[in-house]
Amino acid sequence: MPAEIILHHPKGSSVQIMLYGATIVSWRSPSEGRSDPAERLFVSATAITDGSKPVRGGIPVVFPCFGPPTHREHSNLPQHGFARSSTWSWDDVIKDEGGRLSVTLTLAPTAAITALYKRQFHLSFVVTLGEFDLSTELHVKNTSGSTEYPPDSLEFQALFHNYILAPANDVLITPLQNNSYFDKTESTEEGRATAKIETRAGVDVRKFTDSVYENACQNYEVTWPGGGIGIKTANMKDVVVWNPQAEAGSKMGDMEKGGWEKFVCCEPGYVRGFERVAPGMTWVGKQVISVIHAARRHQ
Ligand code: BG6
Repeated sequence: MPAEIILHHPKGSSVQIMLYGATIVSWRSPSEGRSDPAERLFVSATAITDGSKPVRGGIPVVFPCFGPPTHREHSNLPQHGFARSSTWSWDDVIKDEGGRLSVTLTLAPTAAITALYKRQFHLSFVVTLGEFDLSTELHVKNTSGSTEYPPDSLEFQALFHNYILAPANDVLITPLQNNSYFDKTESTEEGRATAKIETRAGVDVRKFTDSVYENACQNYEVTWPGGGIGIKTANMKDVVVWNPQAEAGSKMGDMEKGGWEKFVCCEPGYVRGFERVAPGMTWVGKQVISVIHAARRHQ
């Protein structure tokens, strides 16, 4: 296993982050009234964790393209970009008075990245652990020297690919009703799918699901009988709901058998169109994921 950082909160929660891909591979948090922290993220038992392939699970960071590249500057990049398959750096862990712990991982162009992608950038990925919540922030700085805009603006997509540990066939995701979305199971490229309107009060993933909701409300709940996770976001206007079910999951080499029954991906991001950041400027996308306690759970 390549180098990793593990943060332990004084109240029992913990987070484990691989420098490879800045991928969060474990987040353990207690439920209210219980002291034993439970795992909240799914990682496939057959995930590759030697740094040769993005990890199948946890929270991979998607940048600068979502899915197969569609921007001409991204044409040499792999699906979901290079952030999840590059090795990041980090320095210190900061602890605040309430016991919350933060670490910042950084990524700047390496020779391997520059061979595929010519833009100048600096990424900071800030992970903050609370007792019942975990926040991730991606700071995208355009470090190109030019002051001209837009020619040197950095155009990118970004997304947090959350694999939430959950009984997939019992999960409902809200509130997405009346939101427009693109159903990627009906098209190989999201851009070519026809926009639909979500009619369901709660979105389930009982069949193969790969839906991109655009301009969504940015605050979601993923609930199931007996559990739930809330996701609050900022500057992440879109959200992807993905579960391959056996139809697509059984064809993935690094997906454990039946793994699709153990998670739902609820992935906030900026993935419809491209976000732009001018030279010298920084864009920040953020999410806070938290355990929903018993009193608020739906059945
Ligand atoms: C989702 C995409 O975000 O990630 C899906 O919408 C894709 O189309 C899935 O299949 C997994 O991608 P990958 O590259 O990790 O297999």
